[in-house]
Amino acid sequence: MKRTIAPYLICPACLPQEFPLELRADREENGDVIAGVLSCRKCRRRFPIRDGIAVLLPDPDASPSGGQWRYEEGGTLATYLWSHYADLAGDPEAGSAYADWAGCLATGAETAFDAGCATGRLTFEMAARGALAVGCDLSLSFIRTARQLARDRRLTFSLPREGNLRDTFDVRLPEAWRTDAMEFVVADVLRIPFVRETFAQTSSLNLVDRVRHPLAHLYEMNRVARKSAAFLFSDPFSWSTANTPEEAWLGGTERGDYPGRGVDNVRALLEGKGGIIQPPWTIERQGEVWWKIRSHRNHFELIRSELLVASRRNSR
Ligand SMILES: C[S@@+](CC[C@H](N)C(=O)[O-])C[C@H]1O[C@@H](n2cnc3c(N)ncnc32)[C@H](O)[C@@H]1O
Repeated sequence: MKRTIAPYLICPACLPQEFPLELRADREENGDVIAGVLSCRKCRRRFPIRDGIAVLLPDPDASPSGGQWRYEEGGTLATYLWSHYADLAGDPEAGSAYADWAGCLATGAETAFDAGCATGRLTFEMAARGALAVGCDLSLSFIRTARQLARDRRLTFSLPREGNLRDTFDVRLPEAWRTDAMEFVVADVLRIPFVRETFAQTSSLNLVDRVRHPLAHLYEMNRVARKSAAFLFSDPFSWSTANTPEEAWLGGTERGDYPGRGVDNVRALLEGKGGIIQPPWTIERQGEVWWKIRSHRNHFELIRSELLVASRRNSR
């Protein structure tokens, strides 16, 4: 974990109160803490840094719950790597989703946060635009792989071609992309371990329908966003009780607190309806991005992710 992010960290277990974490570095290489501990003076919890990865979960040793175990499987990792980096591996069948999302990022943000970053493509795009960019995810395997790509600037992975035959992909980051001011941590987007109003650009892509408490996720994203921030939100609204109890869905039902379509409800919440998300955001753009995922040579999934580009850049 890069030492530069330490001043922004708070204890995820003590939220909604914010208490700083104290860093003890046992092994460090050029400002990167390879082994150490982050501790909270208030609750005395300790969060480990192992192999350079900070695990900032209230219970760092708990096993994945709900549908989260799927993301730890090797096949899922390769599938995400393809969806994030197939274009950088020169695959003519790669989709353009991440270029489309990256095109919606604000210019000149100093600090950026990518919630549920998976293998990190949008975090790299944020860092390439000059921001101190942080990606967080619950999946240790995704975070380890994203850190490895940031360090080595190249990565090889394979996916099934057909049956036991495999296709190999060699990803190289473009030379112009900066990787010195970025970091990936294991953290929960329902308890984001960062000080309020840290980030000038935030993003939540294909995540709100994956969390246990979608409204708490939006609330947390708003807490860590600066008063004058930009927020990139996109989601297919594939509500499922495997991830989220039905009473917590922000759409996809006829009754309850959030009936109707998810995108309408998230838009209204961001615009200040109910006074939960404050100060309100202005929606600058609403649209859709087609996100492509490959399982084998002849099998792809095409997902319509509904996009909201929100900003408070003109407010103080
Ligand atoms: C559908 S994937 C989307 C990944 C990425 N944002 C993208 O659009 O390519 C959802 C991701 O969110 C992560 N995730 C799910 N629940 C989470 C939580 N509570 N905190 C952090 N990450 C979470 C998963 O591990 C997975 O990487």
